[in-house]
Amino acid sequence: MDEIRKGLENVIALETSIAFIDGEQGILKYRGHDINDLSKLSYYEVSHLLVKGSLPDGRELEDYSNELKQERFIPSDAMAVLSSCNFNIEAMDALRTTISYLSHCDSDMNGNSSEENIRKGMRMIAKFPVIVAMFYRIKTGQEIVEADTSMSHGANFLYMLRGERPSDLEAEIIEKDFILSAEHELNPSTFASRLATSTLTDIYSAIIAGVCTLKGPLHGGARMAVMEMLDEVGSVENAGLYVADKVNLHEKLMGFGHRVYKTYDPRARIYKELARQIAAEKGDLSWFEIAESIEKAAFKEFVENKGKTIYPNVDFYSAVVYKYLEIPPKLATAVFAIGRISGWIAHCLEQYSDNRVIRPRAKFVEI
Ligand code: SDX
Repeated sequence: MDEIRKGLENVIALETSIAFIDGEQGILKYRGHDINDLSKLSYYEVSHLLVKGSLPDGRELEDYSNELKQERFIPSDAMAVLSSCNFNIEAMDALRTTISYLSHCDSDMNGNSSEENIRKGMRMIAKFPVIVAMFYRIKTGQEIVEADTSMSHGANFLYMLRGERPSDLEAEIIEKDFILSAEHELNPSTFASRLATSTLTDIYSAIIAGVCTLKGPLHGGARMAVMEMLDEVGSVENAGLYVADKVNLHEKLMGFGHRVYKTYDPRARIYKELARQIAAEKGDLSWFEIAESIEKAAFKEFVENKGKTIYPNVDFYSAVVYKYLEIPPKLATAVFAIGRISGWIAHCLEQYSDNRVIRPRAKFVEI
């Protein structure tokens, strides 16, 4: 029996044509396209690349966008389910519950052909932001804002969430957020979706497995934790002591470290620039400067003092962007899921297309 790799670290579980990551060089590509190039496109172009396998031409993009925009609506019975959610639950629980209910409303529910799975996947891509925004409006006692099909995926989300049209920069930045969050190879939630898919369960069930996994604080939950950390640190002056305390208490510094990247997460570099831009537009650099001071203190503690390759990951500066976009911390993981759903769908389709049940072994030990 092979040696055990705790957490399946560096275990190659399967082949994929969806993402390429070089953890030493800090490189991320979706279907061969570098993330730095993809982050200049629209979310629908990148979603098409992931789900359909190629960047769309003009006509393909128009068709894909129109199909998704027409699905930006939640039927009244699903709205009743969403409205009946006990509001002490997290947005990720409301998302899981509503998607589960919506699966019963889907005319393709019992079909498992590639075309049926793509249609079901696109309905989820379209509905994730709508569900999250509606949940927040209901939970905070605000009027529901109906979807606006004239807006981009990201702009419509911010419009439905905040009840006002976002600025051009805000709309551009949330689209980039969804792109940067869209795909990351066999991360825990994507692997959960692929594992479920390998039993040939339906794609809704496989996606719900991903939603449940992303919720974890060491995975998608880190973004919310970073937003709360920014409040806790509160000033540039406090950053050094805060980080030193975390290290001395052997507590994880949220938004830092990565199983694969042993250098700066390429997504974090892009998010840092987005955070700088939105901070400038808002005329308030405070959150950005606090984050930068945490980053500097962490570099000193981890890299300089301990020689550890612990750098900012995707959840660090994205949390700063969410602060400036007025996204409530408790929605942060669900907003991450709004981007990641396209990657999950792509991996489910790839698993269905060349499947073998995923079933590792365990070594029995007497206790
Ligand atoms: C995401 O996999 C993906 O691709 C995920 C993701 C995606 O796009 O899907 O990139 C999204 O989940 C990003 C990660 C978000 N989570 C966090 O920010 C939580 C804080 N980070 C850590 O929990 C940790 O870095 C992980 C979970 C991200 C990775 O953990 P590993 O690979 O299991 O590493 P480890 O916990 O075994 O740590 C190795 C060493 C330990 O020290 P020693 O015991 O060897 O002395 O590094 C230390 C750890 O204590 N360490 C940290 C740390 N991360 C690692 N110490 C303090 N703060 C940290 N953040």
